[in-house]
Amino acid sequence: ISLKHYNTFGIDVIAKSFVEINGLAQLQRVLELKAYPNKFILSGGSNVLLTQDIDALVMHINLKGISVVEETDEHVYVKVMAGENWHEFVLWTLAQDYGGIENLSLIPGNVGTAPIQNIGAYGVELKDVFVSCAAMNMESMELEAFDLDSCNFGYRDSFFKNEGKGKYIITSVILKLSKINHQLNTGYGVIEEELKRKGVIYPTIQDISEAVIVIRQSKLPNPKEIGNSGSFFKNPVVSKKTFEKFHKKNPDAPYYEVDKNQFKIPAGWLIQQCGYKGKRFGDAGVHEKQALVLVNYGNASGSEILELAEKIQTEVSKTFKIQITPEVNIIK
Ligand code: EPU
Repeated sequence: ISLKHYNTFGIDVIAKSFVEINGLAQLQRVLELKAYPNKFILSGGSNVLLTQDIDALVMHINLKGISVVEETDEHVYVKVMAGENWHEFVLWTLAQDYGGIENLSLIPGNVGTAPIQNIGAYGVELKDVFVSCAAMNMESMELEAFDLDSCNFGYRDSFFKNEGKGKYIITSVILKLSKINHQLNTGYGVIEEELKRKGVIYPTIQDISEAVIVIRQSKLPNPKEIGNSGSFFKNPVVSKKTFEKFHKKNPDAPYYEVDKNQFKIPAGWLIQQCGYKGKRFGDAGVHEKQALVLVNYGNASGSEILELAEKIQTEVSKTFKIQITPEVNIIK
C-alpha cells in the first residue's frame, strides 16, 4: 500500500506489507510473525522522511485511550495511549482544565512519538510534564517502563533516538498535569505579543493555547495542506569560541545562551541568510514564512527533499562554518 497518507510530508512510497496495531496483544502477535523478519514502526508519521519503498512489514501504531491513573488535590496523572493524536489530546486536557501542555498545542503527530524527540515549543518541552512511558522491547516482547531519568531527554533528543533506537515501541505515556495553580509559560516574546494584541491581561491555559495556535498557523504550514515535518533541522548548539567568532561577523543574528559555554543559533536565520527561504525546486521547497521547514508542494519524492536538505547543509556550512543537522528521522 502507499504510505502517502501515513506521513505528514505526504511522500508516496510503497510498503510491502502493512498492519494497523489496535491492541497490545496484537502488537506482540505481530512482532512474533516469522514471515516478516523486518518490521518498521510508523506512528503519527510526523517526524520521518521516507526516501524509498519499504521492504518490511510496516506497523502503524493505532493504540487509543486516555485515562486518569492518579489524582491529588493539585495534580492529575494522565495515561495516554501512543496512537492518540497529540493535538487532540492537548485539547482534551484543556477541556478538563488540566495545565502543562498548552504551549505544545498544534504540534503534529501522535503521543507515541512525543518522547522520542522530546517535543517542545514556546518555552515548554515534553520532559517538563513527563512522568514515564511504557515501551515494548521488540526483542523480548515485554513491556518496559521508562521514567524521566531513563529517557535521558535533551533538546529534541532522548534515549529512544540513541541507545534505544529501533529497539522499542512506545505504547503509552503518563504525564503529570496541574488541576489548580497552573504554571503559565508566557515568557516567550511572541506569546506575550499575541495575548496583548487580544487584550488578555490574566491569561488562562486556554488563552495560551489559542495564542500558540494563532502563532503557529501564521508561520508553520498545515501538513494537511502542504506536506511537511515541522522544523527539518535542529537549531545548532555551538561552543563559546565558535559563537564569539560568529557573533563578531554577524552582530544582528538572533541567539540564545544555553549556558555559559554553549549558544544556540536559530537554523532558520542561517538558512534565510543563505537565500533559501521560500525557494522551490520542483515540488520540494523551503517554506516561505519559516526557513527551518522543508515542504512538499505535492509530488516531491523523499530523495528530492533530502537533496534539498543536503544542499542547504552544505551552503550553511560554507557560509557560516556551522553544521546544521536534521531533526527529522530520515529513512534511507
Ligand atoms: N528566523 C529567521 N528566519 C526564519 C525563521 C526564523 O530569521 O525563516 C529567526 C526568527 O526571526 C527568530 C529566530 O530565528 O529570531 C527563532 O525563530 P522561531 O521563534 O520561529 O523559532 P525556531 O528556533 O525557528 C523553534 C523550534 C520550533 C518551535 C519554535 C518555538 C527547533 C528545531 N524548532 O523554532 O519547533 O515551534 O522554536 O518554540 O527547535 C519543531 O520542532 O518542529 C518546531 C516547529
